[in-house]
Amino acid sequence: MGKSYPKVSEEYLKAVEKAKRKLRGFIADKNCAPLILRLAWHGAGTYDVKSKTGGPFGTIKHPSELSHGANNGLEIAVRLLEPIKEQFPIISYADFYQLAGVVAVEVTGGPEIPFHPGREDKSEPPPEGRLPDATKGSDHLRDVFGHMGLSDKDIVALSGAHTLGRCHKERSGFEGAWTHNPLIFDNSYFKELLSGENEDLLQLPSDKALLTDPVFRPLVEKYAEDEDAFFADYAEAHVKLSELGFAETY
Ligand code: HEM
Repeated sequence: MGKSYPKVSEEYLKAVEKAKRKLRGFIADKNCAPLILRLAWHGAGTYDVKSKTGGPFGTIKHPSELSHGANNGLEIAVRLLEPIKEQFPIISYADFYQLAGVVAVEVTGGPEIPFHPGREDKSEPPPEGRLPDATKGSDHLRDVFGHMGLSDKDIVALSGAHTLGRCHKERSGFEGAWTHNPLIFDNSYFKELLSGENEDLLQLPSDKALLTDPVFRPLVEKYAEDEDAFFADYAEAHVKLSELGFAETY
């Protein structure tokens, strides 16, 4: 199965390349990779495979979507990115936010993630309530990611993104980081999850679900042991997430 992507102009491709370089410098300088990755994920993860609504189409910049409870704090990411976005009026917000998400992973040492441009901005934000709730377990994770059209393997690989960043009490109600090096993208999320020893590190109920579920746990063990396997599966899952509802599948 493959995908056929819309054709964009030479000028558009050049702007994407230039924006990518600007984003690399900016995200490294501001140490904001975790927040930017969360923006890209919350922008894309609203896709509903049945109704074909939601998804990575730039709607997250609208105050009505930013005001969804799950998006607390993401107005900061939108505001941070705006001065760079303004330099590239030709690029859609949809492409720009997803490009920023890819760069956030790369500049922190994560895998290279293929980026295909051509998403168009949509005006209709998705309904609230499509993103996962951190207080719930594996049934909920399967339900939410299943609506996006993503698999069990995608759930575990993508959860490894919590190698970056932290929770903020005033945003999600939780506080703390998952790893000791929240600005480095590696497989330490899975190592820390398995060791479970560090009381100064955080484990949300949704993280713990990865340990207790019979399908999720072997993947956690595999990624903790083999960073290359994690990077390969993460990159594949990230591309899927960033392209939900985008480009025709054949
Ligand atoms: C599996 C279900 C998931 C749940 C329940 C969940 C939950 C959360 C919560 C509660 C926070 C803290 C927000 C804050 O207080 O600032 C957070 C942060 C974060 N999430 Fe997730 N998340 C999930 C999946 C993902 C995925 C798939 C990605 C990316 C591919 C991701 C990337 C991030 C990042 C990078 C942060 C750190 C943000 C920062 O430091 O400002 N998460 N997540």
